[in-house]
Amino acid sequence: MNFTGANILSVDQFDIDSIQTIFATADRMQPYARRQKRTKVLDGAILGNLFFESSTRTRVSFGTAFNLLGGEVRETTGMESSALAKGESLYDTARVLSSYSDVIAMRHPKSGSVAEFAEGSRVPVINGGDGANEHPTQALLDLYTIKQELAYHGHTVDGMHICMMGDLKFGRTVHSLSRLLAMYKNIRFTLISPRELAMPDSVLEVLAQAGHQVVITDQVSGISDADIVYQTRIQQERFTTPQEADLYRGKFRLNSEIYTKHYKPNTVIMHPLPRDSRAEANELDNDLNQNPNLAIFRQADNGVLIRMALFALTLGVADQVDKYECDV
Ligand code: CP
Repeated sequence: MNFTGANILSVDQFDIDSIQTIFATADRMQPYARRQKRTKVLDGAILGNLFFESSTRTRVSFGTAFNLLGGEVRETTGMESSALAKGESLYDTARVLSSYSDVIAMRHPKSGSVAEFAEGSRVPVINGGDGANEHPTQALLDLYTIKQELAYHGHTVDGMHICMMGDLKFGRTVHSLSRLLAMYKNIRFTLISPRELAMPDSVLEVLAQAGHQVVITDQVSGISDADIVYQTRIQQERFTTPQEADLYRGKFRLNSEIYTKHYKPNTVIMHPLPRDSRAEANELDNDLNQNPNLAIFRQADNGVLIRMALFALTLGVADQVDKYECDV
């Protein structure tokens, strides 16, 4: 894949080689993210950071990643503060904002909206989440984390057993991660959700075509040898009413007692965050916070590395980062 100038809209545009390129570039970003080195490789460049739906990690880590490469960030947050609220089209917004920016990161509540926006943009557009559809940068940081966590235990992505649990219908992170993992070999997927919130057929077809073993269930069972448990939040914002989401909240919790009972001692615990910590939901309990297998904050940290790598690659400066080093 030629990254320079490319939009990053879906994990479907990657193959194993391009994923390796992103991860190798992310590895090289570590000293800059840790403030051991400083670079001005993107000095003078501007990121348009457009978040038309709420976000903490994705929005701030995109901005942090761009700043760490020496660039500046212009933010638009919330639909109501943009001219989209006055009926302006995504195309017109993209044409205008792309002349103010060198690259744009965007989140929007509607599936397909970021791709629609990209048609009007004259600079690369990176999808920060479009409705229940995709969240490709989250999937990359999840896979990067999975590789690190499994390597620590002497395992690989090929042949692993992953359990995904919760709202698999509306959770865009599990859609993108499943599609990425489909590119690897002999993975066992145990997909645990209420029947009404099962993984979409479009994702299941990709897994079946790639020959992976998939078990779909609404029971917490068959997971005693899972290498990874990937817990998700009930995506209340995708339901017609909060009351409808209430029907499913708290159905599949993970806490220390459940973890000890159902999983092997070194199963890695993941969650894209935010976790819903309200008592009626609490899908990932704080009593796991000190468990060394809890990888949720390592996931969030890796988000900066992955997003730095994507900026460096799409703006064609990945090989020049060290040339523009300056004093720390
Ligand atoms: N994982 C994730 O997308 O988090 P935010 O909604 O906080 O960006």
